[in-house]
Amino acid sequence: MAKLGLNVDHIATVRQARGGVEPDPVTAAALGELAGAEGITIHLREDRRHIQDRDLEILRRTVKSKLNLEMAATQEMVRIALKVKPEQVTLVPEKRQELTTEGGLDVIVNLKLITDTVKRLRDGGIIVSLFVDPNQEQVKAANKTGADYIEIHTGAYAEALTWPDQERELEAIDTAIKLARKVGLGVNAGHGLNYINIKALAAIGGIEEYNIGHSIIARALLVGLDRAVKDMVELIKYA
Ligand code: PXP
Repeated sequence: MAKLGLNVDHIATVRQARGGVEPDPVTAAALGELAGAEGITIHLREDRRHIQDRDLEILRRTVKSKLNLEMAATQEMVRIALKVKPEQVTLVPEKRQELTTEGGLDVIVNLKLITDTVKRLRDGGIIVSLFVDPNQEQVKAANKTGADYIEIHTGAYAEALTWPDQERELEAIDTAIKLARKVGLGVNAGHGLNYINIKALAAIGGIEEYNIGHSIIARALLVGLDRAVKDMVELIKYA
């Protein structure tokens, strides 16, 4: 059955707004796991705008399900990942000015860098996932790097406003899932997923893990994290 990976970056964003110590993403991760999340996802950005090195270090010791570290393929991040050893690293593109990750990796153009990075991480015993758009050429390139998983960037699906547009994006995702599985890659998905658009996506099957942050933390502000996580777990499992 598919799993929820709870992204707790936004808890850290609220903390950083005051530069203090609360709310703590470590506490949110523990509550999320108690409510049924089977993974905790954090993005350690170069500018440390939300998650801090301290969060990664403590979460490494406290997460009981699976720690998924999103990061750019830089020397600094590879060094940190090899030291901290999360169960999984998801490589993402990173631009300084963006509000959030804006698209998938260009694995075709950056094949050598990504292949080298995948090898170093896998040699360190870390599962590696590549965040890619639902594009067949990118999936084929991801397979060439030796990565274990792709995480399909669901942003275009989440932003599609009309049913025909959503349908078209779902078809692209479905094709990417089938190709990935055929060549032996596992499939995760994330970005922009919420309590409405998760239903049609989860119904197509083939996705092992959904990494979701914004919509769950936004709902948690109003109904509490326990209920927000439980509601999403139910939608994922019983779609
Ligand atoms: N997956 C990846 C690779 C991401 O970069 C993000 C955003 O940090 C997410 C999933 C979660 O996206 P959202 O916050 O829109 O649920």
